[in-house]
Amino acid sequence: MDLRMRRARRGEFPTIWAATIETVWRDLPEDEKARLDRTAWEGHIRKRLEPYVESDRTEAWVAESADGTFLGYLLVGPGGGYLTQETHGFIYDVWVAPMHRRRGIGTSLVRWAADWARSKGYAKIKLEVAETNPAARRVYEAAGFRLERAYMGRVLEAPPENGQSREQRPKR
Ligand SMILES: CC(C)(COP(=O)(O)OP(=O)(O)OC[C@H]1O[C@@H](n2cnc3c(N)ncnc32)[C@H](O)[C@@H]1OP(=O)(O)O)[C@@H](O)C(=O)NCCC(=O)NCCS
Repeated sequence: MDLRMRRARRGEFPTIWAATIETVWRDLPEDEKARLDRTAWEGHIRKRLEPYVESDRTEAWVAESADGTFLGYLLVGPGGGYLTQETHGFIYDVWVAPMHRRRGIGTSLVRWAADWARSKGYAKIKLEVAETNPAARRVYEAAGFRLERAYMGRVLEAPPENGQSREQRPKR
């Protein structure tokens, strides 16, 4: 497909926000979601994502077809500088409109992001993906990304009646 990339227009940010928030919500661990009020959470996440979705820090790019149909978007910008001093390119989000999925657009967007990062002088591009999003993981792997690190979590069971967790009880 003949994809054209251009910077997102102001009127497209409501779509970008809604899709980004939906993806983050969908990929939250179920046990955490069960404790959240969605409306209150949306207020929280909008503030946290503001610097990555709609700010001078990142760039929002839209993929459109030759006839100008909105096919998807990409949020890219600098990342890293935490574990090492090096910054690299970072994909903050990639999204393809549902009716245009499985046509290679996601893969093209991710490859385009790698070219974008190279053109900015970065030696590497990174991203974060949820364990529960195998579709995106396959797209990234097909575009040459490899797992480097993973978050791990453990749900903690309620303490027993006497208030001591198993770990606190003396070992025999
Ligand atoms: C992830 C996403 C961007 C993929 O976009 P896409 O245009 O459908 O991806 P592609 O067509 O390039 O898919 C390439 C390959 O990835 C795999 N893949 C993509 N979507 C898949 C799915 N839903 N189930 C299983 N495999 C999938 C397939 O191997 C596919 O190749 P094939 O169609 O020849 O079998 C899209 O599903 C999306 O927007 N999801 C919601 C947002 C999201 O999760 N973003 C990632 C945040 S980390």
